[in-house]
Amino acid sequence: MAEDLKITGGLDRAEKYKELMPQITALVNGETNLIANLANIAAALRETFDFLWVGFYLVRDDQLVLGPFQGPVACTRIKFGVGVCGTAWKENRAIIVADVEAFPGHIACSSQSRSEIVLPAFSDGLVFLVLDIDSSQPGYFDDIDLLYLQQIIDLIEKVY
Ligand code: SME
Repeated sequence: MAEDLKITGGLDRAEKYKELMPQITALVNGETNLIANLANIAAALRETFDFLWVGFYLVRDDQLVLGPFQGPVACTRIKFGVGVCGTAWKENRAIIVADVEAFPGHIACSSQSRSEIVLPAFSDGLVFLVLDIDSSQPGYFDDIDLLYLQQIIDLIEKVY
């Protein structure tokens, strides 16, 4: 199977997600290795959208540890309850931050980051990873991102 993504130019963000979702599902279906799947999902998201950084942090004991990602080098460990990722983990919820400088405790892995979205994935009711996406533009993420990225999280939870 050819692994190239097919995303039509000129589409708005919702339409791009709609084209991307079945392709991500196809990439992940039949592969049980979590790291392989996370790596392809990060690559597919970064290839489709002009996000600054797309990646995963995996829960390891009392910290989040950097997992597969695409973009500039990033912090390797994040404490429970710290930054946007640690807060999403602690509060068991997705978080959209329109202005990272206004978020108390935001961890600036890249000085170019202006806005961010983080979604946790659960196994047996506990967070086992978070998906983190950064943009170099302020106020970049909205309910459309939340809707489709949650579908990606649902898929990850299903194959995990
Ligand atoms: N900004 C995140 C840290 C991870 S980097 O953005 C890749 C946070 O505050 O949790």
